Amino acid sequence: MTNLNYITSKNVSPHNRVRHMNISDQGACLNIQRRAFPKLKSYTDFAKEFGKDHSIYLVTYFEQCQVQVQQKIKLSNYLCECSTNATNVSGFIGSWRVADQIQIIDFVVAPEFRRFGIGWLLLASLIEHTGSFRSKLVTLEVRASNDAAINLYKKFGFEICGHRKSYYSNKTEDAILMNLELES
Ligand SMILES: CC(C)(COP(=O)(O)OP(=O)(O)OC[C@H]1O[C@@H](n2cnc3c(N)ncnc32)[C@H](O)[C@@H]1OP(=O)(O)O)[C@@H](O)C(=O)NCCC(=O)NCCS
Repeated sequence: MTNLNYITSKNVSPHNRVRHMNISDQGACLNIQRRAFPKLKSYTDFAKEFGKDHSIYLVTYFEQCQVQVQQKIKLSNYLCECSTNATNVSGFIGSWRVADQIQIIDFVVAPEFRRFGIGWLLLASLIEHTGSFRSKLVTLEVRASNDAAINLYKKFGFEICGHRKSYYSNKTEDAILMNLELES
């Protein structure tokens, strides 16, 4: 069971804010995803996710940002210029609501903003948000070697509930399945 007091007491940089992802965030989020996973065969189609009733995507952004980030990437039909401004995106989390469960399907913090509590903030915000759907369980899968993510999930109260052998094909590796039971 998750301990919400512990979750909300975590110290996070006061300049970080969370909101629902919107269409103007998709270039910045794709940029973060590409930098975090440069060898993926395909990346999230955020526009498609916005059209799904069961899809929940949140982003973190800096209200004031001292770190200069200058990145330009050209996507097929979308030019994104991520620079430091009032709505700069630092990470995102994506999930699907399936019956009384929440499946986490996307979760990335920009490499230069890791270890500032942003991942924690995203996960806590998603779980808080799922309260309005009376969800009972949060599920996810993670690479067996992904210590950063596994540590974070365990601290939150997620428990290992299974393995999928050779689940990841891009650098073949097992998946660990983890669950978090939510308090009703
Ligand atoms: C996993 C990830 C989202 C964590 O984001 P983050 O903002 O750096 O995490 P936080 O700063 O909120 O860290 C919270 C806790 O997670 C654990 N953690 C985070 N990064 C860690 C690391 N590199 N090594 C060990 N533990 C780590 C720690 O327990 C940390 O608590 P602490 O800072 O009090 O020690 C980030 O590393 C990331 O984007 N990784 C690449 C994408 C990915 O693997 N996503 C998960 C897919 S399942």
